[in-house]
Amino acid sequence: MADSKHPDTSLKQPKIETRSRLGGVDIDRPAMQYDYTNFYFGAGEDSFALLDPFDAWWSEAEPEGYYQYESPLQSAPTTRVDVLDKKTGQVRAGLINFASYNYLGLSYREEVKEAIKAAVDVYGGGASGSPILSGTTALHKELSEEVARFKLKEGALIFPTGYSANVGTIAGLMRSGDLIVADQWAHASIVDGMILSKATSRFFRHNNVEDLERKLSGFNGKKLVVVEGVYSMDGDMPPLRDIVAVAKKHGARVMIDEAHSAFVFGDNGRGVVEELDLEEEVDIHLGTFSKSLGGQGGYTAGSLKLINYLRGFSRSRFFSCALAPTVAAGILAALRLAKTEPQLRTRLWDNVRFMKAKLDEDGVPTGVSASQVIPIMVRDDARIFEMGEAIFRAGVFINPVKYPAVPKHKSRFRMSISAAHTHEDLEQGATLIAGVLRDFGVCQ
Ligand SMILES: Cc1ncc(COP(=O)(O)O)c(C=O)c1O
Repeated sequence: MADSKHPDTSLKQPKIETRSRLGGVDIDRPAMQYDYTNFYFGAGEDSFALLDPFDAWWSEAEPEGYYQYESPLQSAPTTRVDVLDKKTGQVRAGLINFASYNYLGLSYREEVKEAIKAAVDVYGGGASGSPILSGTTALHKELSEEVARFKLKEGALIFPTGYSANVGTIAGLMRSGDLIVADQWAHASIVDGMILSKATSRFFRHNNVEDLERKLSGFNGKKLVVVEGVYSMDGDMPPLRDIVAVAKKHGARVMIDEAHSAFVFGDNGRGVVEELDLEEEVDIHLGTFSKSLGGQGGYTAGSLKLINYLRGFSRSRFFSCALAPTVAAGILAALRLAKTEPQLRTRLWDNVRFMKAKLDEDGVPTGVSASQVIPIMVRDDARIFEMGEAIFRAGVFINPVKYPAVPKHKSRFRMSISAAHTHEDLEQGATLIAGVLRDFGVCQ
């Protein structure tokens, strides 16, 4: 009910019923003219002022297929998945899956499932406590020790998610008056950690070492540089050696988030730092268990002094329930497989080479990826969901990514390649995607 305090905001709803022409394309689905940008700031004093206009758009956009997210999977995230089609209510079975992070195909391995089942019998469901209180089980202790050994570091701290590992590590260490400089494409969890720390935050142009140097110059005080091992939306890597050199020159510590590169890069899977022989030069090594290990959670590894300090000051860990013991058991099993089966990495990189060659052959624009994360750059913010729907109907499960996850006019499909894909999966998937993109004029 509208009153003077809570005005009827429906009066402010944007007009979205009109047909229009955008960039010469006949738009017969007006919902595509709007996205989250239109509903971020608004006039009015009621905190709920944007809910009605958003709902007006959402109730049109969602059923029309402009929110192609949260489609429930009905199966494990293997290379073929069964997914509920939200439009028809039917389950689409056997879609070729390029949407899951399971880079080594570990989440559904028998060894992992058995470890989880065994942990259920001992520990039941959740940890029922913060890790510093009652939430640390023998499994958590074993996991942190095994991660530290694996990363050749003195210690490691386990967090409930990779997101909270970034937030807790950055805000746990840096304070108001300090300086944090991160790559402009740093993940949201890095950015949120920077904001929470209240330190001065600067961003350098993506992978641009000269700009990093400019951003570090002239600052007196504690400094931290944060980069990723593999950037999650482009699949490219940082010029880490040069970044470390500039950081050291300016007395800055270096942190790397290896969410997408730990367990897959380097002969032993220790990440981009192993691949580039910079394991000692980087001060803080962060990663997630949700990507290559197919589990959940995050870690920070480094010197014992760093880990013990963060144990006391990482609020996202301190004030949050520990990982479920079952999850810890699954990750431990997956980590052991990642360590003892280097052939998984060999197969992954063979698959990546195979897929890139196939996509190139089909004229699919793949951007600058140097990893198993391959963006398909369609750059058409208005039509990406239409393309997404067509790809889904063609038999492929892959997520469209648009603003705010990537900049405007940089819309893409983010493809994750797994060691578990067969060449047949890859070939078929690429052919189906290329067929749809050809219909949309994205490739020849
Ligand atoms: C670079 C990067 N860091 C951190 C995270 C957060 O990890 P998690 O999903 O395990 O919370 C992600 C997730 O996508 C990521 O891409």
